[in-house]
Amino acid sequence: MDQIEQMPMPTTAPEPASQARAPNGLDGSNRTSWQGGAAVAALAMSAGVLALAARSSSRGFWRAAPSFAPADRTLAWASPAVLASNPRRRFYAGTNLGRAVTVEDLRAMAHRRLPGFVTEYLEAGGEDEAALARNIAALAEWRFLHRSMVDVSHRDVSTTLFGRKTEIPVAVAPTGFNGLFWPHADLRLAQAAAEAGVPFAQSTMSNDLMSRVAQVPGLRYWWQLYVFGPTEVRNTLISRARENGCEALIVTVDAQVYGNREWHHRTMSSPTAINWSSRFDALMHPDWLARGILTHGMPSFENVVEFVPKDKRSLFKSAHWIRSQMDKALSWDLISRIRESWPRKLIIKGLLTVEDCVRAAEIGADAVAISNHGGRQLDWAVAPLDLLPAVRQALGDRLTILVDGGMRRGTDIIKALALGADAVFVGRAVLYGVAAAGRKGAKRALDILREELDRDLGLLGVRSVDELNPRLLVRASELRKAGAELH
Ligand SMILES: Cc1cc2nc3c(=O)[nH]c(=O)nc-3n(C[C@H](O)[C@H](O)[C@H](O)COP(=O)(O)O)c2cc1C
Repeated sequence: MDQIEQMPMPTTAPEPASQARAPNGLDGSNRTSWQGGAAVAALAMSAGVLALAARSSSRGFWRAAPSFAPADRTLAWASPAVLASNPRRRFYAGTNLGRAVTVEDLRAMAHRRLPGFVTEYLEAGGEDEAALARNIAALAEWRFLHRSMVDVSHRDVSTTLFGRKTEIPVAVAPTGFNGLFWPHADLRLAQAAAEAGVPFAQSTMSNDLMSRVAQVPGLRYWWQLYVFGPTEVRNTLISRARENGCEALIVTVDAQVYGNREWHHRTMSSPTAINWSSRFDALMHPDWLARGILTHGMPSFENVVEFVPKDKRSLFKSAHWIRSQMDKALSWDLISRIRESWPRKLIIKGLLTVEDCVRAAEIGADAVAISNHGGRQLDWAVAPLDLLPAVRQALGDRLTILVDGGMRRGTDIIKALALGADAVFVGRAVLYGVAAAGRKGAKRALDILREELDRDLGLLGVRSVDELNPRLLVRASELRKAGAELH
């Protein structure tokens, strides 16, 4: 039904008796008051319509202007439009990093600073974003059973990963196109990770040279490999990772076919060009523009651009070309050969079945990263957290298990570890930080996670991350039954 049909028609509305007796404008006897009333009503309606129009047309303005962005943790969380919708509780979205008290504040700061097409690239999930939403919902399903009367005056949030201490059980996930968020963002993320004492994984689709990142003092450096193009590409990248002292090689196996991130596509006029409204919107984000491409030019895929045909080396064209060259026949056989050629730690990232994780152990991998690529690839994929207990049960202590997807809080990390992970990858959490304020922003994200982890361990009645176990958790849906059993 359309709106006009739904509107109540005043002529058919029953009149109160007193009004029915009074003459109205039909016979002209009370024309002035009738006209006055109608005029007031018309004015009120116009004012309402104008107010509504102004509100919707100024949405972009209000999103950019205030220092606070409305709080939102609904399932539509990925849409920047949602930020304009409501409430009084607002995340900090200004420029003073010290006022960012949560990762969500950094997210709001990043949204304010970035043009829409970059925000959509950062946030987007595949298709209906069900996998993206599930990552958050899977975490929300678990509740804590905290222990009381435990001496938590000394707490230890560090752990051991591949035989070496890491300050928190977190590694910075490999992410591509980081140069869009902040100039030399790969380098800035690596510096922040080194300062925070956690590993940094650099993506094949990164924008800073491997040899430059490798020079960051104190860095635990991991390299992520996408298998694309002729064998020469893979061999070159693997030997460079070795020469540059990478501790681990991550082979990502869930992106041989590129996910359909529709919200990001809507900002593009073609796979290789942003549309006109995105261009205009970019002009409306002067800090991003001036600090980024006006000063440093467009980023490029520094580590792989040499393999791209000369006429396709611009940022978007090369991304498109590389995606088209992904090895769609990637097999366990090839992963086994990579295993043989790589003497250090090997992590297989993007596995989502118990069988595949067991297979990874059989071919001699050192770790699996259970991941649905932050909900960006196959929509409706299970959340890695859903699978985690079964993977831990099947693998025992044979492999290191990393998990990712939606990790934004100390409590998220605690849940993942209690369910069997050795550490988590954080993707967007640190990207919000780097997009908000470069190295300092990324470091702030990692500091927030460490502070929350430390506080939450204390609240949970646990002294160290190594003491975390599934008995500290209960599924919300089984709370009553489990409450009776877990005494
Ligand atoms: C903007 C962006 C780019 C990404 N690029 C890569 C990549 O190049 N290689 C890769 O293995 N994973 C990539 N990922 C997936 C992340 O490594 C990680 O699995 C995911 O971000 C975890 O989910 P989270 O963002 O909710 O923490 C990317 C994720 C994002 C958000």
